[in-house]
Amino acid sequence: MKAKAVTALRCAIVMGMCTWVGASLAQPAAQPWSNVSLAPDARARLLLAQLTQDEKFQLIRSYYGGPDRPANNPVPKGSLGSAGYVPGIPRLGIPALQESDAGLGVASSDRIRAGHYATPLPAGPVTAASWDPQVAFRGGAMIGGEAHSNGFNVLLAGGINLMREPRNGRNFEYAGEDPLLAGAIVGAAVGGVESAHVISTIKHYALNDQETARDTINVEIGEQAMRESDLLAFELAIERGKPGSVMCSYNKLNGDWACENDYLLNQVLKRDWHYPGFVMSDWGGTHSAAKAVNAGLDQESAGEVFDKQVYFDAPLRDALAKGEVKQARVDDMVLRILRSMFAAGVFEHPAQPSPIDEVANLAVARQTLEAGAVLLRNQQGLLPLDVGKLGSVAVIGAHADKGVLAGGGSSLVSAKGGNAVPGLAPAGWPGPVMYHPYAPLKALREAAPKANIQFAEGNDVAAAAALAAKSDVAVVFVQKWAAESVDATDLSLPDAQNALVAAVAKANPRTVVVLENGGPVTMPWLDQVGAVLEVWYPGGDAGHAIADLLTGKVNPSGRLPLSWPRDVSQLPRPALPGAGGGTPPASVDYGIEGADVGYRWYQSRGIKPLFPFGYGLSYTSFSHGSLKVSAQGHQLEATLELSNTGTRAGAEVAQVYVQLPGAKARRLAAFTKVNLQPGEHRQLTIPLEPRLLAHFDTTTHRWVVPGGSYSVAEGHSSAELGTPVVVQLKPGAL
Ligand code: BGC
Repeated sequence: MKAKAVTALRCAIVMGMCTWVGASLAQPAAQPWSNVSLAPDARARLLLAQLTQDEKFQLIRSYYGGPDRPANNPVPKGSLGSAGYVPGIPRLGIPALQESDAGLGVASSDRIRAGHYATPLPAGPVTAASWDPQVAFRGGAMIGGEAHSNGFNVLLAGGINLMREPRNGRNFEYAGEDPLLAGAIVGAAVGGVESAHVISTIKHYALNDQETARDTINVEIGEQAMRESDLLAFELAIERGKPGSVMCSYNKLNGDWACENDYLLNQVLKRDWHYPGFVMSDWGGTHSAAKAVNAGLDQESAGEVFDKQVYFDAPLRDALAKGEVKQARVDDMVLRILRSMFAAGVFEHPAQPSPIDEVANLAVARQTLEAGAVLLRNQQGLLPLDVGKLGSVAVIGAHADKGVLAGGGSSLVSAKGGNAVPGLAPAGWPGPVMYHPYAPLKALREAAPKANIQFAEGNDVAAAAALAAKSDVAVVFVQKWAAESVDATDLSLPDAQNALVAAVAKANPRTVVVLENGGPVTMPWLDQVGAVLEVWYPGGDAGHAIADLLTGKVNPSGRLPLSWPRDVSQLPRPALPGAGGGTPPASVDYGIEGADVGYRWYQSRGIKPLFPFGYGLSYTSFSHGSLKVSAQGHQLEATLELSNTGTRAGAEVAQVYVQLPGAKARRLAAFTKVNLQPGEHRQLTIPLEPRLLAHFDTTTHRWVVPGGSYSVAEGHSSAELGTPVVVQLKPGAL
């Protein structure tokens, strides 16, 4: 141990450029911050004391590394050419920060090295639909590990904007509409990334729930409403996952840019939540020096390319000289960055190019889809397809012979093998439209080698219907591409896909529809088809997972992390002005639904969506035993027995909802997912999250439980609940 420390010290002094590789408890006095037995804050303070003012300024801004940057403004040497780069300080062993997008894997479009590939996770709603934080953790650890093995120590991963707007082009990066579920899932994913010694970046803070006019729009919402919805999701995820950084968003919130919003950054994140990490701006999200810094922004991202000017250099130095910003605040910014680096272990575990276990990582992606695909409809046991008896199958549409669709924008991952369907428009941002090369057709043929499986592209509706008519079963793949920076103008499937499904179903009622989409779509043909399987953008090795789900090797166990509206007329804002063109409005009113996002909106208005939040079918059946609720002060526990009453192994989610005194809607307050063998019973005890029993009091800034009768109910979805148990609670602050 000692020898190692001495060698490392010599290396630092003589070469002036070594980073600390191996940690040692016997630390040289010259670099006491290398002592891993000290807390990250203490280490950061020791290191901060060594920095010159210029070095501090070096750490509080990042550079853009992508190829589409101004020629007269070259990226500093050392950048890997990704979304963000902060040069290191070799004399003190501070490694550079190499930042890569994003939440579904190491992004590798033309923004990063040509020829680079990574393992794509399925879309965020798939992970959320697993209702299993362990699945989310494994996914986060996998993409974090790949980032680390590519030399990255910051992943811009941790998307958690709630689905207020089903047309939002980035819903596929997020985790649905519910604060508890999203908080648990994204928190676990963030924890997974950090476990790989990579700083995770929860984003986009906050209320950036639509892409239309994302960098001009002012979101209007009351304090209580946001604390009980979008901010609660962040609060829970930050608590659970401990991300090293938070990315503030493009939009304004109640009049101030999110990245210079004192309420969001100073008051909520840093004061109320005691967040010790740093806040980085979204790319183009910094609008000032003094105001942003004093409001709590710690690092300006890629300002030389995306902001009007680099605010966190000359303008900030001026503001400091004029006394508009205090030196202590600049020190705090640096301290937070260093602290997150120590907390994630980026000093002791330098990110360096190293081999990746592609097979194991692909298995993580595949298992995520197997846990999160949602069976939305299954008439007369059409699914699972019986491989032994399967005669002929028509596979139709969505390039299922070549691959599976991915969402577009900065999160896009290029999988090994590249784009299976190159050349689709748009080729430029937020494209390219990418199909990952995991073809369901090939996988189905492997799963059912004796069956006669033919493919029709689906462009020729009559030909597809003719193939379906002469097949035992038709499996129609339909898709809707979604991408960052654009919202959908409506919820319909594009092109002639509705006509295609209707014609195929008419030709053969034994029609299964597989959906590849970023969010809910209308299904005018729903009553005519036998089964619908939702796989969203299904990611790595999706073909095999889809084949196993369709043939019953894997029993679907995903449950919707979002409500599925019948059409836009059911939404709080049926119109989305500015989407698809036209002048967008200056502001959007999220006070319409307030904290009642998703199912709470539908319940409070007595609206029945097409599929409720929490919904999903299985190839087996479950019974939910009677619910008991015990209370110790404001700590509630739900106890019940879950049984698998069918003939196949499967997983069920116990979902516990609570209705506060006087409320019209219920709130998810606890859940757990269990695997059950046929005939197996399991006794479950699940603690309820106390903040879901409370209101956020804007005067005292505390969660306060109103006194009165609480109705607690458990069931299979938000709309299929057993007999409620009523519990009396005394009023009080948490
Ligand atoms: C996106 C972020 C992303 C950043 C860097 C922005 O346009 O909103 O999510 O991390 O670009 O690529």
